Amino acid sequence: MELGVCYYPEHWPQERWAQDARMMRETGLSQIRIGEFAWSRIEPEPGRFEWAWLDDAVETLHAEGLGIIMGTPTATPPKWLVDQMPDMVALDRQGRRRGFGSRRHYCFSHEGYRAEAARITRAVAERYGEHPAITAWQTDNEYGCHDTVQSFSPAARDAFRLWLAERYGTIEALNAAWGNVFWSMEYRSFGEVELPNLTVTEANPAHWLAFRRFSSDQVIAFNRAQVDILRELSPGRAITHNAMGFYTGYDHFDLAADLDVLGWDSYPLGFLEMFRFSESDKVKFARCGHPDIAAFHHDLYRGCARDGRWSVLEQQPGPVNWARHNPAPLPGMVKLWTLEAAAHGAELVSYFRWRQFTHAQEQMHAGLLRPDGEPAPALAEAREAADALAELGDIGAPVKHAAIVFDYAAEWMTQIQPQGECRSALWAAFDCYSALRRLGLNVDFVHPSQLLEGYALVVIPCLPIVPDALVEALAASDAQVVIGPRTGSRDAEFSIPPELAPGKLTELCGLTVAKSESLRPGLEHKGDSWAIARWLDHVAPGHAAEPEWITDDGTPASFRHGRVRTLATWPQGALLQQVTECAARDAGLAVEILAEGTRKRTTSRTVFTLDYPGSVWKAEQNRAEVQ
Ligand code: GAL
Repeated sequence: MELGVCYYPEHWPQERWAQDARMMRETGLSQIRIGEFAWSRIEPEPGRFEWAWLDDAVETLHAEGLGIIMGTPTATPPKWLVDQMPDMVALDRQGRRRGFGSRRHYCFSHEGYRAEAARITRAVAERYGEHPAITAWQTDNEYGCHDTVQSFSPAARDAFRLWLAERYGTIEALNAAWGNVFWSMEYRSFGEVELPNLTVTEANPAHWLAFRRFSSDQVIAFNRAQVDILRELSPGRAITHNAMGFYTGYDHFDLAADLDVLGWDSYPLGFLEMFRFSESDKVKFARCGHPDIAAFHHDLYRGCARDGRWSVLEQQPGPVNWARHNPAPLPGMVKLWTLEAAAHGAELVSYFRWRQFTHAQEQMHAGLLRPDGEPAPALAEAREAADALAELGDIGAPVKHAAIVFDYAAEWMTQIQPQGECRSALWAAFDCYSALRRLGLNVDFVHPSQLLEGYALVVIPCLPIVPDALVEALAASDAQVVIGPRTGSRDAEFSIPPELAPGKLTELCGLTVAKSESLRPGLEHKGDSWAIARWLDHVAPGHAAEPEWITDDGTPASFRHGRVRTLATWPQGALLQQVTECAARDAGLAVEILAEGTRKRTTSRTVFTLDYPGSVWKAEQNRAEVQ
């Protein structure tokens, strides 16, 4: 694994660049990500390019032997472009224009902006595509950041209608698929279909699901246009993009299919503060991050990536500026996060950013250097990480234990129709991941269309649409299986299947869900050390599956049918921990119950132990494999 850093030469006087490049090399950094926000400096006026400064920056880094990941600057279209085409900006769900003055102010469906994005990509790729320092390209920056995938603009509406015509063929097919007979929602032509925002009450969930799929496809198409240009003009260089944490606005499996390496941006402390963690976890892990946040994304994006190639394109180096509270990491954490990424198979960890800028929105965001150019604490940790990586050498190949089946549409569907607060397929996947990791297991994420070869344990946390491929993959595998609620509860168009949930998995699970209810706090059914909470499926009489976990009042929380366990309640807490532990033991996996803040990652040669609250890690030889 290599180390790198995100660098903005345009923020600093040119006289400083050579010193920066030397310090980067001395720190053990080898890949420098530049350019992704520099459009206004590359093309200050329409058609007038100023390459000299960027040429010099590239040569300065190259002279130190550093590789360059060049970004296409399409996340920050300049003011003159927005003034030229004011309708290129997205409209938000309330129909308001998203104005100029920050970033990501464009609509993925705007043809004019698509042409401009292709034009600037071509210009940068023509200039640097064959330069020996360029090792990789990053397309745009964080698609979807600041809630920018969905646009409710006229451009999006027109493109949506075309997309619908393509998907459904006839308007009758669309009406039937969506059940538009309900509330007289039938259309006579695709030209009548509006976007699903601004309806009086909720729009048809099938309408929303189609819009979510469409919005995702627009991102994929926007990205692919850049990828095609880069492949043509810069052959042999890897193409990557930086995905985000806990973000599901587009289908990352689809995006990654067009990339060589899927990158992501890891901000463990910011994510802990901003996402759905308990107040006590937020306090407990405030300076180290929850021990599953980074690893969950490492494994998820490795699973999404085409050939399993992934990297961390931005690594938190100190306090960020965008969370509710922004503490500094414990000493040693930046190094630990770096080594953990290596343990999970990253190709690169690139710190965000080289030097804290004195101006603008991210003034309060740390870098490896302070605003005055002196080292910040993370610089020394990056150096130590580089040394530790050199010492580790080849860590060996990944080892398969458990697989989690995950699909982006599942999360879209639980967002569209939560049927109660906080029921999300993504967070169900996170909680299952956490439970498995507490058992000391490696976890891979697989798409429902993939094979399940080599896994002793398969967990399907919440998957409303079950494709035939998954039914076949499960039949071909002899793994222990744990299936969560809502799985198989819908068809591809969001309608209830004739056989009811779990649909195509009915035979495998040995039961039929007759009724589902969501439970408010206070309606729990208690077991000895666990409870049924949030969700309860009632199973139809005459089922083949045996109740396994049963509450004090006799309500089954889970069923067992051969090697398959089905949860009748939301996968969470002590119940989830017990069920996954039982399934892992039945699968013959070597279970080790880890301390709350400790995680393990096992490869063919190495066992990594990461103690988050202690901010220490160790790597030992994998004796099990050696013998
Ligand atoms: C990321 C983004 C970077 C920077 C960083 C700050 O979301 O890609 O450009 O804003 O956050 O943490």
